[in-house]
Amino acid sequence: MDDEKKIFKDNVKTMEKKDIGLIGLGVMGQNLTLNMERNGYSLAVYNRTKSKTMAFLRGVGKGKAIIGYNNIEEFCKNLKPPRKIFLMVKAGNVVDHIITELEKYIDSADIVIDGGNSYFMDTQRRCVDSEKKNYHFLGIGISGGEEGALRGPSIMPGGSEEAWENTKEILLKIAAKADNQPCCSYMGSNGAGHYVKMVHNGIEYADMQLIAEAYFILKNVLKLDATELARIFSEWQKGELNSYLIQITGEIFASTDSETGQPIVDMILDSASQKGTGKWTSQNALEIGVPVPSISEAVHARFLSAIKNERVEASHLLSGPESHYSGDKNLLIDATQKALYAAKLCSYAQGFSLLEIASIKYNWNLDLGKIAEIWREGCIIRAKFLNRIMTAFHENHVLKNLLLDPYFTKTLESNQKDWRFVVTLAINNGIPIPAFSSALAYFDGYRSAKLPANLIQAQREYFGAHGFKRVDKKNNQLFHHHFQ
Ligand code: 6PG
Repeated sequence: MDDEKKIFKDNVKTMEKKDIGLIGLGVMGQNLTLNMERNGYSLAVYNRTKSKTMAFLRGVGKGKAIIGYNNIEEFCKNLKPPRKIFLMVKAGNVVDHIITELEKYIDSADIVIDGGNSYFMDTQRRCVDSEKKNYHFLGIGISGGEEGALRGPSIMPGGSEEAWENTKEILLKIAAKADNQPCCSYMGSNGAGHYVKMVHNGIEYADMQLIAEAYFILKNVLKLDATELARIFSEWQKGELNSYLIQITGEIFASTDSETGQPIVDMILDSASQKGTGKWTSQNALEIGVPVPSISEAVHARFLSAIKNERVEASHLLSGPESHYSGDKNLLIDATQKALYAAKLCSYAQGFSLLEIASIKYNWNLDLGKIAEIWREGCIIRAKFLNRIMTAFHENHVLKNLLLDPYFTKTLESNQKDWRFVVTLAINNGIPIPAFSSALAYFDGYRSAKLPANLIQAQREYFGAHGFKRVDKKNNQLFHHHFQ
């Protein structure tokens, strides 16, 4: 017990109240604490499991301006006013429980900052509650994983503007920097920050799925092994595809399993998990009527991957074509690179158009150029080509869809032959490529002045007399037709 007391007090350089409080010492919470401390702030930390706080203060938190508490009241008492309290806990009920506990001890100007992956509508509700109860609430999206939290993440704050003004010095300091500018900017009121982070994750799902499909094509058609794949990805990393996800994918291919000596990628079960942010993106897009097929397909692909046993059974019963390609190996590698880039452009275009419509729907006034700007470093989808997106929105503030930007138009024109070739080849070889092909269908649908929806309307009219607009009448009047 004495030892514990000592540890809890050990790190106190002065008995002054601390600048920032942080609750939740998972890896993200720990690393964010260390990041803030490194940037000159003193911190008070609390974790429900006391042993975790002890381990942190005895370990990486040792000798730093960080003090641990095992009681929320004491924790709150020892924070400088207005209190700034970060919650780095699991999204959902846990956040509400802690807020209820905190509400007993905080004052009117205090700021509660939820840095987890909370659902944006929960954040909206919590903002309303905080206003009623007279304190401030910020919902901030933090991306960059464990490393990002420690070295500098991309930060997407939303909620009370006054609270943003009071915390921005901290957030701007701890954020990643791109061209010396912090990858952090106020997104908008209530749930805006968490919404933008949610869409970031939706794009992340599509990006990861596209990369996985490119891998699957090269592995199954060209029978490339992990060493060759590592070399190809490190080549791709030098070009337009340059991004964190391409970089780590190359590193993954180069890494071997310590037990078997085999490439680690070949030892990992092909069943993907998910925590829900990609699904939320897809659900919200359906809710507000924005097409994001590549993001949705990426979510479905994870679900399909997860029914591994069923797939194994089905593989004995359902046949498909044998994989066959007699063309040039390098030609297919290059075409896959171009197809991947084109499909990636389309999935980002979907994500940004979702942001644009959501901004109107939820009254956020999101700055899409700014969002691209703060995603250039720190976050998981950081990529060289986000500079292109940033420029596209900075140059055209009323850009409806990224596909209409001249850089995108040109790139899709030059890459689409390879894209179609790779999609066709994969289909003919029986290789599932839902993200590659849905992105292409999105592109083809978006660029089509005419779609077969006239027939859908006719069918709706036939069985339900739902009415249809006519091509030869300009107004919005609905017409009917008696079939037979
Ligand atoms: C980030 C990541 C981060 C995390 C996701 C993974 O931006 O730092 O997106 O939020 O890695 O929780 O999500 P899934 O478990 O759903 O893949």
